Amino acid sequence: MCGIVALVGSREASPVLLEGLKRLEYRGYDSAGLATVTTDTDTQKGFITCKKAEGKLFNLVDLISVEGAPGHIGIGHTRWATHGKPELRNAHPHVDSLGKVAVVQNGIIENHTLLRESLQNKGIKFCSETDTEVIPHLISEELSRLTQDGAIPNGEMLFLAVKEVLNLLQGSYALAVIWAETPDVLIVAKNKAPLLIGFAQGEFLCASDSSAFAGFTRTVLPLEDKELALLTPLGVEIYDSLGERQHRTPSLIINSEKDIEKGQFRHFMLKEIYEQPETADQWISRYLPDGLSASSPIALSFEDSFYESIESIQILACGTSRHAAMVGAYLLEQFAGIPATVFFASEFRYAPPPLAPNVLTIGVTQSGETADTLAALIMESERRSNLKDNLFSSRQLGITNRIESSIARQVSNIIDIGAGLEVGVAATKTFFGQLLTFYGLAIMFAAKKNKRSLKEINELCSQLRLVPNQLRDLIKIHNRLTEKLAHQFVNTKDVIFLGRGINYPIALEAALKLKEISYIHAEGFPAGEMKHGPIALLDYKVPVISIATQGIVFEKVLSNAQEAKARDACLIGIAPESPETQIFDHLLPIPKVSEWISPLLTVIPLQLLSYHIAAHRGLDVDQPRNLAKSVTVE
Ligand code: M6R
Repeated sequence: MCGIVALVGSREASPVLLEGLKRLEYRGYDSAGLATVTTDTDTQKGFITCKKAEGKLFNLVDLISVEGAPGHIGIGHTRWATHGKPELRNAHPHVDSLGKVAVVQNGIIENHTLLRESLQNKGIKFCSETDTEVIPHLISEELSRLTQDGAIPNGEMLFLAVKEVLNLLQGSYALAVIWAETPDVLIVAKNKAPLLIGFAQGEFLCASDSSAFAGFTRTVLPLEDKELALLTPLGVEIYDSLGERQHRTPSLIINSEKDIEKGQFRHFMLKEIYEQPETADQWISRYLPDGLSASSPIALSFEDSFYESIESIQILACGTSRHAAMVGAYLLEQFAGIPATVFFASEFRYAPPPLAPNVLTIGVTQSGETADTLAALIMESERRSNLKDNLFSSRQLGITNRIESSIARQVSNIIDIGAGLEVGVAATKTFFGQLLTFYGLAIMFAAKKNKRSLKEINELCSQLRLVPNQLRDLIKIHNRLTEKLAHQFVNTKDVIFLGRGINYPIALEAALKLKEISYIHAEGFPAGEMKHGPIALLDYKVPVISIATQGIVFEKVLSNAQEAKARDACLIGIAPESPETQIFDHLLPIPKVSEWISPLLTVIPLQLLSYHIAAHRGLDVDQPRNLAKSVTVE
C-alpha cells in the first residue's frame, strides 16, 4: 500500500509528481503529499517546500495549484494508513526537526518504536504517529555527524547518511529522500517493497510501479532488495547494501499504461463488469485459439514434463484472488484429478504444511504486488532449496494481470491473465481472468495426465468458447434486474450467500464484493453448513442469496434454501428458470449450463447486485473506504 514517486531533472517537478501520484492513487487514498527542493535566489540557500492534504489526491492538486511547490527535484506519496490515523499530521512526506530532510516511504518499519524512543531520549520531537518519521530524524542526525567529520561533498554525504540509516531499519520499505542542501540529488532505496527507476533524457523518475511512468518513459529498471540509488540530472548510480556499485541495463516496459476513462459508465467498476465478455474473448483468442492439438488444448508454453512431474498443487492468494484459486482447486481436483489445496497467503507463511515432493506452488495476484503472496512464495522457495533434494525442489507459477509487477520478476513461470488495467478497487474482470486461467490449467493437467477423455476435454473447451456471448446477454439482463432489486436493500444490514461445490467460492466472492463496496455485513457459506449454526442468524431482515445451478448438488441447495425460507428470510436465487426455482422470492436467472462452467456465469448477477446496492447508497464504489487496490504491506 501507499505509492511513492520521486523526480530529479530540469523541469518543474510538482506536475510530474502529481501525474505519477494520480496513477498510483489505487495504492491508497487516505492522504497525499509532496516535497520539493529549490534554491532561494537571494540567499542562494536550498529549502524544502512540503505540501500535504488529507483525503484523496484532488485535495493536494487544489492545494498545489494555489500555493505551488517550486523545484526540479521532488518526492510524492499517496497514503494507505498503517501507523497513525488518516490525518494530515500523518501524511507524507515527513521531515526532520530542521525541515531540511524530507522522506516518503512505502512499507512498515518494524522496529520504529525503539528507534523513536532513542530519538526522543535525545530530545527529538515527533509530529506524527507514523513509523516513517524516524527516518528523516535519523538521516538528519547522521548528516550532522558527517558534517563534523569534514570535507565530504553534500551529495555523497546524503548518500552515506541514508546508507547508514538503512542499516538501522528493520522491516520493509521503498523510500525516497531529499535534502535542502542538495537541490540536485535524490536518494532512493528499497527492501521488500517495490521501487522502479524510469530513465528519460536528463531526468529520472522513481515509482512504486510502472503505471506511474506512462507518458514519461518506457525505459525502466527495478531496484533489488537492499539496494539504494543516487540520482542526479546527470545519471543514476546503484549500490548494494555493502556499497558495491551495481551495473544493470534498464529494459523496455511492454505495457505502457494508457489513460483509462470511465466513458459512458458512472463508475469504473460497472465498466469493468461490462468488459468481462472482452476479457473472455481475448483469453480465448490467446489461450484457446482454433486448431490446437488434442494433446495441448490450451496455448500455454510449459514443457510436457512440467505437467507430468507434478503430483499436487498448492495455491497461495488473498481476497478475491483466493476465491478464484478455490474454483481453480475444485477444477484441478475434480476435473483434472490432481490434489490441490488453497491457502491464505498470509497464513501459509507462518504455518506451512509439511513439505511434500513434486509440488507446484501457484501464487495468484492480480496486482502482482500483494506482500503476503510474494512473501509466502519466497518462504516456500527458500525452505525447499534448503533441502537440496530434486524431488522437493521449488516449482512455482504466478498468475497475474500485471506482467511488469514484482511477481513476474520473482517467479520464472508466469501466466498473464490479460484482463487490461483494472481501476476499481473491487476486483471483477481480473477475477474473471483468473478463473479462465484455472480452466486452462485444469484442461492442460487433465490432458497431459490422461485424466479425462478427449471428448470431455473438447466439450469443456467448446463450452468455454460460448462464454463471451453468454456473458453479453447476462450482463444486459442482470444490470436491469439487479438495479431494480438493489432498492430493496436500503435498510439491509446483513446478507447471507449460499453456494455449494464449485459455486461455494462464488458465494464467498459475492459476500466480499458486497462488504467492500456497500459496507453491508455479508457472509458466504457452503449451503449445507447453514443448519450447523449460521441459520440462527436468519429472520425476515436477512436476505439469503442462494446459488443453485444444475448439477450434483442442485436439489440439495434448493432444500437448504427452503430451510432459510422457513425462517422468514427473503430468498434470492441465482439459478436457471425452472419449476423448482419458483421457491425464490426473486430469481436472477442464469442459463442451464454444465456445472463446470457455471461459476463464470453465476458471478455476473452477484457482481452487478453488489455494484447497484453500493451505487444506490451513493457510496464511492471505485475507491471504498479503508481499502487499496494493491496491498503491499503484511
Ligand atoms: O492483487 P491481488 O489479487 O493479490 O489482491 C488480493 C486482494 O487484496 C484483493 O483481491 C482484494 O480482496 C480486492 N479488493 C477484492 O475486490
